[in-house]
Amino acid sequence: MKKILGIETSCDETAASVVADGLTELSGVIASQADQHAAYGGVIPELAAREHLRVMDSVVKTALKEAGISSIRELDGIAVTQGPGLVPALLVGLSYAKGLSATSGVPLVGVNHFLAHIYGALMDDGDTFLQNPKTYPAVALVVSGGHSAILVIERGGAVRVLGQTLDDAAGEAFDKAAKLLELGYPGGPVIQKTGAKGDPQAYRFPRSLTLSSGRKMRDEDRFNFSFSGLKTALLYHCRQHCGHTLPEGQFLYDTVASYQEAIVDVLVRKTMDAVRFSGARTLICAGGVACNGPLRERLKSLTPQEVRLALAPPKRCTDNAVMVAGLGFHLYRQKQWMDLGADVYAKLPQVSFFPPAEVLK
Ligand code: KG4
Ligand code: ZN
Repeated sequence: MKKILGIETSCDETAASVVADGLTELSGVIASQADQHAAYGGVIPELAAREHLRVMDSVVKTALKEAGISSIRELDGIAVTQGPGLVPALLVGLSYAKGLSATSGVPLVGVNHFLAHIYGALMDDGDTFLQNPKTYPAVALVVSGGHSAILVIERGGAVRVLGQTLDDAAGEAFDKAAKLLELGYPGGPVIQKTGAKGDPQAYRFPRSLTLSSGRKMRDEDRFNFSFSGLKTALLYHCRQHCGHTLPEGQFLYDTVASYQEAIVDVLVRKTMDAVRFSGARTLICAGGVACNGPLRERLKSLTPQEVRLALAPPKRCTDNAVMVAGLGFHLYRQKQWMDLGADVYAKLPQVSFFPPAEVLK
């Protein structure tokens, strides 16, 4: 049994976890800073870094203790989120992990947070699913605070990004709306809760880069997203109805429900188009926004019967280190050691490979 310690600090969660053989969670600790950032309506990178630094050591020690590990040397590997994410925040986790590795001799691997989200959606299905040729091609919709992308994972692990956001991520669209309406941070959960009391058909918010947007769409935007116009439409909608006062009561509920509906509608329509386009046998949905109830329900009702739907379990949608340790195991198995001089990366690099599918012919 190979035990990997995962460390995650890409945004506002300090997380550590020990996972065995890439599948079995032996421990999972998350210290969220959401309360510290709430006053600003979004994450402040330097504040996040300071907070990671404050709790990092105790989060890792708790994760080791819960997994019954008394010395770092009992681990087979250490996996740390290298990017994409907030640079000051990532640096805390990376420096800490490098220190652990250098002093113990336990090898270190650098994990792509975006791919880790996808892995987190698949972990519970186990090796038989990940390494079954019939799982692929798989379409993945990854929607979080930092990303919105649709990609295809081919048999053998090759990855093709079909489309991504041209501006805001889907999670940002939730967070910025909540900030505008002064509903709190993070926006997704509170928008979902508030919208549950409203009518999603009450108002029609724009569906950018779709055929129903009223504008001509370029072929290359078929799978791309754009959410920044939606946020502006919300601002004008509120001004038109409430002037400079904050919306409230049924108007607020209907507005929020309709706004959420516009996001869900665009995400699901483009994803279903990608499923048809790529002949997918599996549809994966991962990332913080995958927690969203209406999105999950819509995917369940519209995914064709012959396509297996792999929705990330709610506890693995938002940032955690279980998915980092899980994917890290595959990098460990492939001996993709991290050089101690390696740096973090803020933006999503060109993704071309999903390591867990590597063993497939
Ligand atoms: O994956 P994640 O924890 O962090 C990033 O990698 O960015 O995603 C956080 C995002 C936030 O934007 C948050 O508002 C959104 O996920 N989120 C949701 C829900 N829960 C979290 N969005 C919609 N509905 C939810 N229930
Ligand atoms: Zn994330």
